[in-house]
Amino acid sequence: FSATTPYTTLPSVLLIGPSGAGKTALLTLFERGPLYTPDQPTSADKPSVSTPVARTHTSQVPSTVELAVSPDSTTFRTDLDAAGATAKKFLLVDTPGHPKLRGHALSQLSASSPTITPSTISATSSETHKSKLKALVFVTDAAALADPDSGALAATAEYLYEVLLALQRRFHSRSGSRAPASVPVLVAANKLDLFTALPAALVKSHLEGELTRIRKARSKGLLSTEEGEGEGAVGGEEGEGWLGAYGTERFSFKEMMEFDVEVEVVGGNVLGEGPGADKWWNWIGERV
Ligand code: GTP
Ligand code: MG
Repeated sequence: FSATTPYTTLPSVLLIGPSGAGKTALLTLFERGPLYTPDQPTSADKPSVSTPVARTHTSQVPSTVELAVSPDSTTFRTDLDAAGATAKKFLLVDTPGHPKLRGHALSQLSASSPTITPSTISATSSETHKSKLKALVFVTDAAALADPDSGALAATAEYLYEVLLALQRRFHSRSGSRAPASVPVLVAANKLDLFTALPAALVKSHLEGELTRIRKARSKGLLSTEEGEGEGAVGGEEGEGWLGAYGTERFSFKEMMEFDVEVEVVGGNVLGEGPGADKWWNWIGERV
């Protein structure tokens, strides 16, 4: 009987966010290290077969890489063995941002003990390994958010609303007196190498403003379909569908602390010159 290799399932961090924000680019950067330069011109006599994921394209399926974060290193590294004994290993899971492909990622968030099934890892084994979800990185395109005609702000906030609402619902789905383990959210304001990109502080306030607008619009929609009955509650159950603290005029990410969901907005970039991805890496390292 072929022995089943003992496999300790590592905790996971989920990359989520709209299409084109840079999730796959970020995963590739963390996997390959800081020297990764996807825009390097490939010489004519050497086709780029050695770099299968360097050119990103719209993701169709989730993919997973195993990484290690070391407490005595401030930047990400590729070599898992060189990372040392103190390094914490985790799985970074990329998800597709296309609206029709989001259901899988979202459905994994509401469970009281969210586990994710890292598809590409389990592909090597017949077993399905469930990994404990430790944190979410919601990647946004700060340059697209700066362009009012792109529709990116509305589209990004719409997805973020779904993600945060799923985590909020999860908080309420506690079994007994035990609160579910919290899943912190990093909103990565990506593409800060582009001079048109919004700085992180503006990404934060723009998103909060748009989430406020969505919240208002949804509460009106819910009230009109349910004829506004009850004690002024949105959608019957108290505040169901209402993101954040009930009754506040303007949504703020701080409100999510009521549901034990920490949200932080941090700027960076995968390509080009800028603050880079170190702060995101460190954020992840503190939470896995
Ligand atoms: P989906 O798979 O469709 O959900 O998108 P994604 O979030 O995985 O986006 P992806 O990583 O494929 O990146 C989309 C595009 O943005 C690619 O052309 C990347 O090269 C580009 N990109 C990613 N990060 C940066 C960045 O920091 N700066 C700039 N200028 N471009 C970036
Ligand atoms: Mg992708």
